[in-house]
Amino acid sequence: MEKAGKVKARDSFTTGFGVLAATLGSAVGLGNIWKFPALAGLNGGAAFIIIYLLSTLMAGLPVMIAEIMLGRRSRSDALTTFRVLHPQRESWGLIGAVGILSAFLILAFYTEVAGWVFAYVFKSAAGSVLSTDPKVTSAAFEKLVSDPVQSIFWQCSVIVFVGGIIVLGVNKGIEKTTKRLMPVLFLILVMIGVRSLMLPGAAAGLSFLFHPDFSKVTGAVVMTAMGLAFFKLSVGMGTMITYGSYFRDDQNIPLTALRVMLADLTVSILAGIAIFPAVFTYGFKPEAGPALLFITIPAVFSQMPFGNIFVVLFFVLGAIAATGAMLSIMEVPVAYLHQRFAFSRFKATAMTVVLLILIGSTAALSNSLLAGFKIFGMTMFDLYDFLTSNLLLPLGGLFLCLFAGWVWGESKVRAALSNDGSLANRFIVTIFLFLVKFVAPVTIVVILLRGLKII
Ligand code: PHE
Repeated sequence: MEKAGKVKARDSFTTGFGVLAATLGSAVGLGNIWKFPALAGLNGGAAFIIIYLLSTLMAGLPVMIAEIMLGRRSRSDALTTFRVLHPQRESWGLIGAVGILSAFLILAFYTEVAGWVFAYVFKSAAGSVLSTDPKVTSAAFEKLVSDPVQSIFWQCSVIVFVGGIIVLGVNKGIEKTTKRLMPVLFLILVMIGVRSLMLPGAAAGLSFLFHPDFSKVTGAVVMTAMGLAFFKLSVGMGTMITYGSYFRDDQNIPLTALRVMLADLTVSILAGIAIFPAVFTYGFKPEAGPALLFITIPAVFSQMPFGNIFVVLFFVLGAIAATGAMLSIMEVPVAYLHQRFAFSRFKATAMTVVLLILIGSTAALSNSLLAGFKIFGMTMFDLYDFLTSNLLLPLGGLFLCLFAGWVWGESKVRAALSNDGSLANRFIVTIFLFLVKFVAPVTIVVILLRGLKII
């Protein structure tokens, strides 16, 4: 007892709103703006959205609840959590180890796209990438990505920027930043959405996004939808374990997770509503991936009255969304190094930043110097994306479910999710246990095997 005064309290989220802002900040990201709308539009609209939703409810959300629960109980990073909760068998720690690897692989391509977004905030404000002619916007984008110096410069700037917030700590860095940014994000999104809906092509845009076309749904599409569900909720790699370890003891975990999932879905759909009506109004083809964001959007928005302002706002929105997500991914290795090796936060962050710049450069250069270097027909950029979203996150999710439902066990789950009996949520926990023990593992295995054409 007499020592208590000397023990430094663990840096954590302090308010209920802070927990929500940080967790939602993690979920909302480039996935909402760059992946969701384009994937949904191209893979069968509402048909894809339904499969995405089912994967979210049957697998993504249970994994999210499981991760936060385990992290809060262990008050440890993604890897140490398994050692603390189940010291009998160290091999469960592999989930965390693979999670840390996934964090680097995701950040490698994510910081590159974020680098382009940050670059476009400045370039669109200066007017240098704007034109109503997609050939001009395409050439401008091409010039950026095929220039190794610019690519590396913007990626490194983003990595150092995010590292700078991480160094400040969980409360003063992550929580404070996301608390300020999330409301701004919603405001901008609604402004662009309303503007877009007022355009004459609104109906065509909405029908592209929502018209169900089940003929497009193949095994690979279902695998993509499930991968997106994991990617969107930031689960399967220990992000939510790490954030869970900063949750307050009185936070209602299932309710928070549900809120985050619903708000994230809302942002994804609003992003689609902001983008496609404008695309169709001006007769553009709804491209997927980077082309949609960096070639079509600047051209389309430049056609609208006051469009220049909306382009800048759009990229500010992207930059905000990407920042909250990158903070949560980078926190995974930083928390591990900080806790496991007792490195200072500064040292842990500096090591992560340097390693990330090295790995990230292979993605940054995949449109220039390394464009010809392909594995399984994919550039490093595409490979990191495919490997993490479609394989590592769902596999991580699978083992997390097995650990939470079967190894850690029912009574501990019940105690943890009811905040040791103070929440009356027996029924909800029963549903959770059923999902995490049976539904989620079977769903993940079947979808992966079909997606990879093994069955
Ligand atoms: N959820 C984030 C997005 O949609 C990405 C992310 C993936 C964040 C995995 C953390 C962990 O952009």
